Amino acid sequence: MSRLVVVSNRIADPRKTAAGGLAVALGQALEASGGLWFGWSGQIAENGTPGEGDMNRQQAGKVQLVTVDLSREDHDSYYLNYSNGVLWPVFHYRLDLADFDSGGVAGYRRVNQMFAHKLKSLLKPDDIIWVHDYHLIPLAAELRAAGCQQRIGFFLHIPLPPPLILAALPEHDWLMRSLFAYDLVGFQSETDVAHFARYAATEMQAKPVGEHGWQAFGSTVQARAFPIGIDVDEFQSMLKGKEAVDMQAQLKREYVRRRLLVGVERLDYSKGLPQRLKAFRQLLRNYPENHGSATLIQIASPSRESVDAYAALRAELDSLSGAINSEHGEMDWMPVRYIHRNVARKRLPGLFRAASVALVTPLRDGMNLVAKEYVASQNPDDPGVLVLSRFAGAAEQMPEALLVNPFDTARTAETIQRALQMPLPERQQRHQALLARIRTHDVHWWREAFLAALKQTPEDTA
Ligand code: G6P
Repeated sequence: MSRLVVVSNRIADPRKTAAGGLAVALGQALEASGGLWFGWSGQIAENGTPGEGDMNRQQAGKVQLVTVDLSREDHDSYYLNYSNGVLWPVFHYRLDLADFDSGGVAGYRRVNQMFAHKLKSLLKPDDIIWVHDYHLIPLAAELRAAGCQQRIGFFLHIPLPPPLILAALPEHDWLMRSLFAYDLVGFQSETDVAHFARYAATEMQAKPVGEHGWQAFGSTVQARAFPIGIDVDEFQSMLKGKEAVDMQAQLKREYVRRRLLVGVERLDYSKGLPQRLKAFRQLLRNYPENHGSATLIQIASPSRESVDAYAALRAELDSLSGAINSEHGEMDWMPVRYIHRNVARKRLPGLFRAASVALVTPLRDGMNLVAKEYVASQNPDDPGVLVLSRFAGAAEQMPEALLVNPFDTARTAETIQRALQMPLPERQQRHQALLARIRTHDVHWWREAFLAALKQTPEDTA
């Protein structure tokens, strides 16, 4: 069996549950092949030289973890300025938030080059390499330039925007061309694949080859959708853990006569948090029967705080949640509990189980796994209702959720009311259908489908 090599900006020790389902799932594949996981250590070497970094090696069971520290300059240009200051907003359709003048692209290239050179020294000829996410788009092109011939696949965890939005990126030609160095490129949704196909055909004059292939610049890349899932059993088994049980019991006690709504994400402008709070405020204004009852627990964990757009959003949310509480709150009831902190992953299933409604309403999202985790946590006899943005990748796979347009405050408020009032048989029916879907397309299916497709890519493109 070929060894699997996973490359991602962040890596996690797959043996730790805090690492999350994705790390655990990748960890299983790495364990099976005695694999290697390569990426940034999460550390900044204050006195480091740009384009250089020490490799740290660690053994986690059968998996070798190899990480590289970044110099301050590389961290700021590659991670903050370009990956998160340009690619993240553009790929989430937010040209208005992209800082095209930060000059980060030079550092982005430099770090991808450095990662390629370090990784090359660790590779064996029949390794299978799987690169993850927008931080590392040009990695395969750099590996190829250094002479690597292994099969290399790429999975984009975030959306791919339509060609005209991508074209606003000054270096879009170079970036998109570098995708052709991969044998297989995986996207979250059919919408993303369609955007890639349109870009390839119109901007690159690429030729379609077979069912999924595109040929240009002397190579062929396969482009397909592999919607990522969760480990349903792992998540459900966490429901029985002490942390989740305590969380649920505590919420039940506190909110015995109330209805809980829940939202959990990183504090990110793609998540539609201000729009969600406004829809919740509209719900309280339009349907007074929710007064003294409906309570939104909104967890927004701190993220990328040195990028300007994130600091501005934080201030907006502080003020909006305060305004709703002062407009509607009473001595014994506050409608919004807004928590800007991390909550332990093990407590989440208990929080989801206690909530009658989940609000998963991003303005744009590659997939959104919270939607799936909420469904997995419900009691099938008395399940809660998922209100899901039609702009989340998950919407393609979860049509039995109540789908909303988060930009439409009035209709979203109406839909939340419908969720709060949904009769039991309808809740059960929708939940059953959703659970079946997330079980079929779970994270193990995702990993296996991607790797099988990568191994089957035509020999001449490998
Ligand atoms: C998204 C991205 C991941 C990223 C995560 C956390 O889910 O797709 O690649 O790791 O956000 O963001 P951070 O910048 O903290 O790594």
